[in-house]
Amino acid sequence: MGAVILGTGSCLPRRVLTNQDLEEIVDTNDEWILSRTGISTRRKSSKGEETYRLATVAAENAMQMAGVTADEIDLIIVATISSHMTMPSCACFVQKELGANKAFAYDVNAACSGFLFGMDNADKYLRCEKGAKILLIGAETLSGRTNWEDRNTCILFGDGAGAVVMEYEDGARGIIGSNLRSDGSLWNLLYMHSAPSSNPDIFQADNPGSHIMMEGREVFKYAVKAMEGAVQELLERENVSISSVGLMIPHQANIRILKKLVSRIGIEEEKVFINVQKYGNTSAASIPIALDEANRAGRLQPDDLLLVCSFGGGFTWGAALLRW
Ligand code: UT7
Repeated sequence: MGAVILGTGSCLPRRVLTNQDLEEIVDTNDEWILSRTGISTRRKSSKGEETYRLATVAAENAMQMAGVTADEIDLIIVATISSHMTMPSCACFVQKELGANKAFAYDVNAACSGFLFGMDNADKYLRCEKGAKILLIGAETLSGRTNWEDRNTCILFGDGAGAVVMEYEDGARGIIGSNLRSDGSLWNLLYMHSAPSSNPDIFQADNPGSHIMMEGREVFKYAVKAMEGAVQELLERENVSISSVGLMIPHQANIRILKKLVSRIGIEEEKVFINVQKYGNTSAASIPIALDEANRAGRLQPDDLLLVCSFGGGFTWGAALLRW
C-alpha cells in the first residue's frame, strides 16, 4: 500500500546538560524551565559528535534492526538545519561514512518538520521505485546554532539523531497519507541566518549570526492551531477517527504545546509518546528519536495506526498517518 518502516535507530550525544547547568550560563532556574517547557535535560554534542556522525550511528542502528546492509541502500535523505557544512550535504557525509556506494543522497531543510517532509518524499519515491530502499534520518546539533546568552531560546534545544529504513510494500501496512503545509510569510517568527554573504551588495545589515531567533509566544500560538488543523484535515480525508489511532508521536517542542494539542484533538494522553523532558527540542531529529524509543519499548504493535505531526520554522507543519 505504501512505504513501510523496516527498522528504527537513534543516537544521542553522551553529554547531558541539565537545567541546573543552564542556571550557571543564563539568568534562569529549573522551576521556570520545567513549568514552561517540561524540559529537564537535553544532550549537547562534544568533539566527534557532529551532525553527520550522530546521523551515521542512528542509521547503523536502524539498518541493523531492519537487517539491511549499506550496499542495499538506494537513497539517503537527511532532514537537518545544522549540518557542519552547507555543501556537501549532511546526507553525502553519511553516505561516505556508511560506504553506501550505490545510494544518492541529499538533505531536506524544513526545520522541525524536516523528518515528516522527508517521509512524504520517501513514500512518493518508493511508490515509483518499488524495489528501492531508503534511509531517512533526522539529525541536529542545534547546540552549535544556539545563542548561549539568550535565555528565551538556549534552554529549549538539544542535539541528537534518529533514523528509519523504508521500502515499499503491498498490503495494508505503510504510510496512508500525509498533509503538509508551509507559510513563508511568517518566516520572521522563527529563523536562523546563514553566514554573512561575501557579496557586500546583498542586503544583510540585520544579520545577527547563525543563531536561532524566535518570538516564542507567537510560535506557541501558531504551533497548536496549525498542528491541530493538519491532524483534523488528515483524519477527515482518510476517514479515520482519532479513537482508532494507536500511538501519536508529535514533534517534541514543549510540553505545554503538546498538552494543548492533545486536548484539542481529543486523543487519550496514554496514547501520546513524550520524551521532551529528556532531550528538549531536537528539531528534525525529535520524531525519529521518539519513534525509535517507542518502537524499542514495544509501544508499536503490528497493525497499529501511528499518527505523527510537527511544526517548525518556515513556518512548516503537517501530519502523517501510517499503519505499523
Ligand atoms: O519547534 C517549534 C520551536 N519553538 C517552540 O516550541 C517555542 C514555543 N514557545 C514556547 O514554548 C514558549 O513561548 C517559551 C517556553 C519559549 C516561553 O514561555 P512563555 O510562557 O511564552 O514566556 P514569555 O516569553 O512570555 O516570557 C515570560 C517571562 C519574561 O519575563 P517578563 O518580561 O515577564 O519579565 C521572560 O523574559 O519569562 C522570562 N523568561 C525567562 N525566565 C527565566 C524567558 N526565558 C526565561 C528563562 N528563565 N529561560
